[in-house]
This record gives sequence, structure tokens and C-alpha cells, in this order.
Amino acid sequence: MTSKYWDKESDFYDRQWKGSPSSEFDYLCTKNLLLHMLKPSVSDSMLEIGCGLGMWTCNIGNKCRKITAIDISKDMIRKAKKNANMKNAKFIVSDFISFKSREKFNKIFAVRSFEYLGDIEDGLRGVKKMLLPGGKFVIITKSMPCAWDLVYHEKWKRSGFKQNKISFIKLRKLLHYLGFINIEMYPVIIRLPIFRGGNAEIPLVPNSLAKYILAPGHVLNKFRQAVIFSESYGICATAGEP
Ligand SMILES: C[S@@+](CC[C@H](N)C(=O)[O-])C[C@H]1O[C@@H](n2cnc3c(N)ncnc32)[C@H](O)[C@@H]1O
Repeated sequence: MTSKYWDKESDFYDRQWKGSPSSEFDYLCTKNLLLHMLKPSVSDSMLEIGCGLGMWTCNIGNKCRKITAIDISKDMIRKAKKNANMKNAKFIVSDFISFKSREKFNKIFAVRSFEYLGDIEDGLRGVKKMLLPGGKFVIITKSMPCAWDLVYHEKWKRSGFKQNKISFIKLRKLLHYLGFINIEMYPVIIRLPIFRGGNAEIPLVPNSLAKYILAPGHVLNKFRQAVIFSESYGICATAGEP
């Protein structure tokens, strides 16, 4: 997917996490799991892949020593810099696949961005190279298959929107093959795409009823088991010795 697509999307992407009960539900589920998996601490040097408007750069950057955030879109980076406004954050415009770093990081994370890389395996090799041995990789990515696959989305079709999704079984195998250990998997967002105001949904449920229908998802998420019913899943893994 081209950087131009994401430059345009930067005008609208904040709808992903704000502005309707379903997007706020998605935000809370994602934030809770990200913090649970990443466990940011003041000694951490982090790399974030595909930071978008910097929602997670702010959330995580506030809790760690320094954070480097990269994104293929110059407009996303310009807006993320403004949104984050943090001294310990460095922002870089780059395709992650061609990104080279002399510095190594003890934690690397990617929220809903890995599915847009040209080659997932190449991306994971890059992550492994840039992680210190024993370092942690956390990824949140779209489930495959999931109910969202059934939602017809004309805008995506017209714009050539394409996701390079990978199932959790395949991703786990790939991580294992590349020398990651302690691989753990979790569901992120457990709900159906039926809410008004969401990004790519059949708008059946009005906002006034949304919180009652979304409530069971919060309960299911607590059990952290229902990967199969989840719109996206999270994996955290440790880099083994090279
Ligand atoms: C769906 S958005 C997610 C943004 C952010 N992580 C969030 O959760 O709010 C995907 C982001 O990945 C970025 N991206 C897509 N392909 C990329 C690539 N090859 N290298 C780096 N960033 C990429 C896009 O520009 C976009 O900002």
C-alpha cells in the first residue's frame, strides 16, 4: 500500500479510536492489552512500527526512557509529532521494510500496522535484527478470518486498500522459526461490526444502545482466551539468542 493512501487517511484516522462507543471500546481493549503485553518501564528503549497519528506513541512513550516511532506516511508522522509533543520521542518517515537502525531496542511494538507491510516475513526478520537478545516484540494485528472480512467496503475497494493479514497460527509458526521464544497470544477486540460511527461496519446498532451490546466483550476479554472470535489478536514474544 502506498504512502499516499496513508497521507490521505491521516485526516480521518482518529475515528479509529475516538468519537463513537464502538471506537472507544476498541481503544480501551487495545490499550489494556498493549500495556499488559508490553509492560513499559522507565529503562525501556522502544521502537514503534507504523505509529500513525501517535496514539500509542503517547501512551507508551510516557512510561519509557525513549521511543523511536516510524511510519511510511509523512503526514501521519507530522501529525504524530504534534500530538505526542514529547522530548523522549524521535519520529522517522520510512517504510519499515527498508528501515535500517544501528541502534538496538529492548522492546519493539506494532499496532495494526504489520498487515500493511509488503512482506510480513521480511518485517519480522527486521524486528529480530533490531531487538537486543531477550528483548520483547509485541504485535497487534487483524485476525484472519474474522467477521470484518464479510463487510463490503466500497471505499476500500475504490482506493485499492489491501491488507496482508496473517493468521495467528501462521504468525506463531513464523516467529518460532525465526528464533523467538515464550510466544503468547491474546484476543484484542471481541465484538461484531454492527455499530454506527465505526470505520467499516454495517450500522445496525445506534449509539444509544451500543454500550449494552458491547458490555459482554469486556467480560470475554478478561479471560484473554477467545482469539478465534476476536477482530484482532495480540502476540508477544521474546527474541532468543542469535
Ligand atoms: C491502520 S494504521 C495504524 C496506526 C497506529 N499504529 C494506530 O494503531 O493508531 C497503519 C499505519 O501503518 C503505517 N504503515 C503502513 N505501511 C507501512 C510500512 N511499510 N512501513 C511503516 N509504516 C507503515 C501507515 O502509514 C499507518 O499510519
